[in-house]
Amino acid sequence: MIDCNGLELHEARFASFTACYHCEEEPMLALKVEHTQRVLECARRILEKEAAPGMDQRLIRAALLAALYHDVGRFPQFERWHTFSDAVSVNHGLLGCALLKRRAFLEGEEPFVQRLVRVAVYLHNRHHLPAHLEGNERFVTDVVRDADKLDIFRIMAEHLYGAQKKEDVVLRVRDEPEKWSGDIAAQVVAGQVPSYSSLRYVNDFRLLLVSWLHDLSFACSKKLLVESGYLDQVLAGLPQQDTRLAPVLEILRRQIAEALQ
Ligand SMILES: [Fe+2]
Repeated sequence: MIDCNGLELHEARFASFTACYHCEEEPMLALKVEHTQRVLECARRILEKEAAPGMDQRLIRAALLAALYHDVGRFPQFERWHTFSDAVSVNHGLLGCALLKRRAFLEGEEPFVQRLVRVAVYLHNRHHLPAHLEGNERFVTDVVRDADKLDIFRIMAEHLYGAQKKEDVVLRVRDEPEKWSGDIAAQVVAGQVPSYSSLRYVNDFRLLLVSWLHDLSFACSKKLLVESGYLDQVLAGLPQQDTRLAPVLEILRRQIAEALQ
């Protein structure tokens, strides 16, 4: 069982920080508070599987703190720009990293832990990590990025299918149930992650979600994603009767089965 003494103190700091933004009156911010709690829980589950016996406990502590604080930049971002799009506002990883210092969130922690948390918060939203990132910094950052993706996948899947369906969340792509883009499918089969800007149809968005399976760092994260059932749900939404898509679906199903081994 992963434990982290004194995490309650940080959860209280996070709660008093978010209270300033009146999240109960703004559904998009309430979503971020819930997302944070779930990312923290996902990070615990990843660490339970991936933390090697005898691992430095400070790494586990840093990973949990980084999961808790990874999205603090979202709150001032939304207050000032009314959006979660970094492209039209601010890099929320960079802003979060600055806030860690300005709000003294990490006061009382060892400098070793503080540095790891700052690095992971700063890098958590990068499309690609710097090639030189390795060792402890890489491990803590990977835990947070995987935990973040696992919960974002849940949010996206729920918005595609659930009562909470929102066009903003699926980026205003065209909802034409039979259409999908061959170039997007080819990228996903090749183990690549298509960019948001290249999506045309809701089915392209489904293919993008499936591609996240390749983008997770830890085997246990892939397993958690498959076991969540959301991947199957997203795949089932693709046009099953389209014979051109059949080979693609077969390859994707095989990749999903491999993740369970
Ligand atoms: Fe984030």
